[in-house]
Amino acid sequence: SLVTSGHLRHVESMAQLPSGAGKISHLNAVILGEALASEENDLVFPSPEFSAQALVSSPEQYQQMYRRSIEEPADFWSDIASQFFWKEKWHPEVYAENIDVRKGTVKIEWFKGATTNICYNALDRNVEAGNGGKIAIYWEGNEPGQDGQLTYAELLDKVCQLSNYLKHVGVGKGDAVVIYLPMLMELPIAMLACARIGAVHSVVFAGFSAESLAQRILDCKPKVVITCNAVRRGPKTIHLKEIVDSALTDCAKDGVSVGLCLTYENQSAMEREATKWQEGRDVWWQDVVPKFSTKCLVEWVDAEDPLFLLYTSGSTGKPKGVLHTTGGYMVYTATTFKYAFDYKPSDIYWCTADCGWITGHSYVTYGPLLNGATIVVFEGAPSYPDSGRCWDIVDKYKVSIFYTAPTLVRSLMRDGDEYVTRYSRKSLRVLGSVGEPINPSAWRWFFNVVGDSRCPISDTWWQTETGGFMIAPLPGAWPQKPGSATFPFFGVLPVIVDEKGNEIEGECSGYLCIKKSWPGAFRTLYGDHERFETTYFKPFPGYYFTGDGCSRDQDGYYWLTGRVDDVINVSGHRIGTAEVESALVSHPQCAEAAVVGVEHEVKGQGIYAFVTLVEGVPYSEELRKNLILAVRNQIGAFAAPDKIHWAPGLPKTRSGKIMRRILRKIASRQLDELGDTSTLADPSVVDQLIALSDR
Ligand code: PRX
Repeated sequence: SLVTSGHLRHVESMAQLPSGAGKISHLNAVILGEALASEENDLVFPSPEFSAQALVSSPEQYQQMYRRSIEEPADFWSDIASQFFWKEKWHPEVYAENIDVRKGTVKIEWFKGATTNICYNALDRNVEAGNGGKIAIYWEGNEPGQDGQLTYAELLDKVCQLSNYLKHVGVGKGDAVVIYLPMLMELPIAMLACARIGAVHSVVFAGFSAESLAQRILDCKPKVVITCNAVRRGPKTIHLKEIVDSALTDCAKDGVSVGLCLTYENQSAMEREATKWQEGRDVWWQDVVPKFSTKCLVEWVDAEDPLFLLYTSGSTGKPKGVLHTTGGYMVYTATTFKYAFDYKPSDIYWCTADCGWITGHSYVTYGPLLNGATIVVFEGAPSYPDSGRCWDIVDKYKVSIFYTAPTLVRSLMRDGDEYVTRYSRKSLRVLGSVGEPINPSAWRWFFNVVGDSRCPISDTWWQTETGGFMIAPLPGAWPQKPGSATFPFFGVLPVIVDEKGNEIEGECSGYLCIKKSWPGAFRTLYGDHERFETTYFKPFPGYYFTGDGCSRDQDGYYWLTGRVDDVINVSGHRIGTAEVESALVSHPQCAEAAVVGVEHEVKGQGIYAFVTLVEGVPYSEELRKNLILAVRNQIGAFAAPDKIHWAPGLPKTRSGKIMRRILRKIASRQLDELGDTSTLADPSVVDQLIALSDR
């Protein structure tokens, strides 16, 4: 399963590299040889002007800092951490870890014993430094012309009012708050307000269905759910409050009653009068929050106190509640943001991710605000009213750092260059990519057309679990290879292991693991430390297993090749095949389902579902639609299968295990690569499936 087609693409482009470039292992990076000192083949060099002003401007400088971060992690990170405000310093150690399951329980602690507050560091600290008048958030609504802004001082006031309200209704340190909001300014405000009082936020992406929302509420049992009545996305209106109503009704049936639903009135989408209301439980944000004081003392929390829970998909069972704590996450997101985007105080930064995903936590909200950056928060859809919207926004706010996902790059690329070149984009300085491997042709279009061949691309590899960037280029330091995330960030020690868990050196392919902890690492899966250990630390004892395949080329560059488990990456969204299967079989006429990922031109991967029907039920167009609807209802529209393939029988071994390898080949029409089918209980099902491919 390691050799995906993405991997092969990378191998092809690697083959074009000049030879004799010298080995650059991650600990022993050497300066690139003379032979590479110009733009040739797949190497793209930052301009001398860019490098001259960059925070890290040469491979040697990176090497020096990286070496120190690995050899003296305690000193390296405590120097960086000292730039933040700590009510009390950590003691006795900067960090303590055991990531080796053979030695006992996995434990990761950074800055333990220190007390701090991430909201204080993001807002009060910047205001006190004299930046209260600087714009913190530019907000751009769904409709062009609909906008707003908040300075750091104004943002702090708004956060304090909500913190005071939450305290007033009894939310305190350690209490969970679920946030189900679109990209209004109120979303980061709600996150920061929770952090200020030590409450643990769990943001649920507002594209999740009522059932998914209910599942998360049942798991973390929040005191409050924060939402809004409706949102407009492109030409559509989505009634979020009704989704919350339905989730809360379901939760109550399962014994979890949430007493308060704080609802922001999003007037541009829906009038208050039209909103369904449950007296006693529902409260309008605008009716209560503004009455509270704009001053709110912060709750000092231990560096290891939880900051947030974010649910993400795994290869089996229900979503996992990834738990991040305060101190290490704060230091790590701020530092990775600063270096990977070469951030300068004059930058205007826009990340197109939604706060419902980890990218929106670390790199819309915390990382940038901790640096005192001006961010753009965009409510709408990038193709509305047309495919030029992103560049319209870039010009409007003079965005200098633009961070997005390959899926958006590919879809805009397909729509044609004129949508881009119509706008100036001259403010752009650095581009970023995240969520899935960026294929070299999309990389080149992003670089040449969007960035006018001027802006380095920071292709950042990381995960919900890692909290922040793990492998990412430092723009200005390294020549780039389109499609490679390049080198590890400071303090990150990646290794590639084989099937047996042996580390492989030099040029190789295998499973990507990390050898030691880093400050931004998640600490557990909420309520299930055992699953945490089993999923991430047991597959290759002694290491954190990422779930990704990876290769390292002769120059030491890392190339991520995609998931090696049963997780599909659709438009940069992580979806567990097991979740989609369970949604399909919830349909009364579906007996069994097997879901695989297939290459998709725009989304990266698409969802391909094989379904077996209950005895006697005929397959029909209507049933196909209803099966897709079942997934939309159970998970959300973003997880809807691209293809339903009727399977009177599934290829199974004699012991009854579905052979997904064969299904993947059928789904991607690689019929000459089916391999050995003789071990199947009934080999004839394969021909039957192939014959039904186009139904
Ligand atoms: O497979 C990798 C892919 O996205 C997975 C993590 O998904 P999630 O936790 O939802 O976080 C997405 C945003 C950080 C990884 O296991 N992935 C993420 N970034 C990249 C990537 N694959 C290749 N290159 C990337 N830059």
